[in-house]
Amino acid sequence: MTHPTRTGATRTGTTLTADLAVEALDRARATTTKLTDAADAELTVQHSTLMSPLVWDLAHIGQQEELWLLQHDSPDRTPVFHATIACLYDAAEHPRATRTRLPLLDPAQSRRAIADVRHRVLDSLARLGPEESAFAAGMVAQHEHQHDETMFATHNLRSGDPLLAAAPTPPGRLVPADAVLVPAGEFLLGVDPAEEPWALDNESPQHRVHVPAFRIGRVPVTNGEWAQFVEAGGYDDPRLWTSAGWAHRQADDVSAPMGWAADGAGGWTQRRFATEQALDPARPVQHVDFHEASAYARWAGARLPTEVEWEKACAWDPALGRRRRWPWGDGPATPERANLGGGALGPAQVGAYPDGASAYGVEQTMGDVWEWTSSAFAPWPGFSPMLYDTYSAPYFDGTYRVLRGGSWASDPVSVRPSFRNWDFPVRRQIFTGLRLAWSA
Ligand code: AVJ
Ligand code: FE
Repeated sequence: MTHPTRTGATRTGTTLTADLAVEALDRARATTTKLTDAADAELTVQHSTLMSPLVWDLAHIGQQEELWLLQHDSPDRTPVFHATIACLYDAAEHPRATRTRLPLLDPAQSRRAIADVRHRVLDSLARLGPEESAFAAGMVAQHEHQHDETMFATHNLRSGDPLLAAAPTPPGRLVPADAVLVPAGEFLLGVDPAEEPWALDNESPQHRVHVPAFRIGRVPVTNGEWAQFVEAGGYDDPRLWTSAGWAHRQADDVSAPMGWAADGAGGWTQRRFATEQALDPARPVQHVDFHEASAYARWAGARLPTEVEWEKACAWDPALGRRRRWPWGDGPATPERANLGGGALGPAQVGAYPDGASAYGVEQTMGDVWEWTSSAFAPWPGFSPMLYDTYSAPYFDGTYRVLRGGSWASDPVSVRPSFRNWDFPVRRQIFTGLRLAWSA
């Protein structure tokens, strides 16, 4: 199977055209602008050693856009990011904690450079016509959206005056606290790029797998449920933890999700986006690492789902024996179906999206919180790298765990049921939660 690199692909009514990519690029830039519309000092300071200064993400977005959409095909043109500047934005070369020490472009220079690149990209897309380069442009739009989510995580960790305001989410509803049965059977794992033109390399090739019967939580684990785990001493019982998990829990003194503090009245608050917020027991827990998620699952008499189980529960239609494009069907993501796009600044209550349920009745798979799975990140059989050939392959070494479903901060074009995110098992500054599973 080859990945489309130059031409678009069609799927019942959906063509990956340069027009769709331009729309995604425009929306990404609006989000990028919102996230970097702040005083210079906010952009150049290191808010956390886990994150880059915002001005690094800002310019890196344009440097990658120039690399994949302009420089890749015409290496002889005069670049906006000259080689001596471009190398400052190589993520593999410079760890996040060291980036404020680099001679980076300042905020005004960064804004000018990315606007300059964008101007030339739109010109070249208009010249190329509707289909050509659509995959590369879609890939670059997704890359910008991924860095927008990273910048949301940076904003979440900063202190001072709040800079972002949250839009409301629909109210939750009482959801039966049950698990959904997914009977044993076949499943088509992954996607064919001809049918899912935005898919990145690690989502293919599509292949048939047999999945033993399992049950999976109808909704993600909530703050209220997690508080019971804390209060029951879950963080102090080594029997619930793997040896690596316990070692990390001890070394970093992990004793509650990131930012939690007792409110003195038997409840909890969480520090997020420069404010102390009362924890809503009905919202999915976020800011837990893989080790915590695994310990919670064991305490609850469950386990984490594998990523294959997760994708089947999300996308498979057992009646028709085919995948749905989204859990709810083939229609687009809307505010009634999923909490995506970043406006909410946090997850909605469980039960808020009955219209987003999968064929099996599993809710809130897309958006709200990334869900830890038990799976190590590894290629599907027959994997072949895309144009941006170091996107996935360097991370197939077994040290990363897969996260699924996207968070409230993910854009609808940058997540899908087949989308695979990955991170170190100790990371929790990203918008991570979990859903339980049981073998049946
Ligand atoms: C897919 C989110 C793990 O941000 O580390 C961005 C994506 N790769 N730029 C990351 C990525 C290069 C990556 N994740
Ligand atoms: Fe990047």
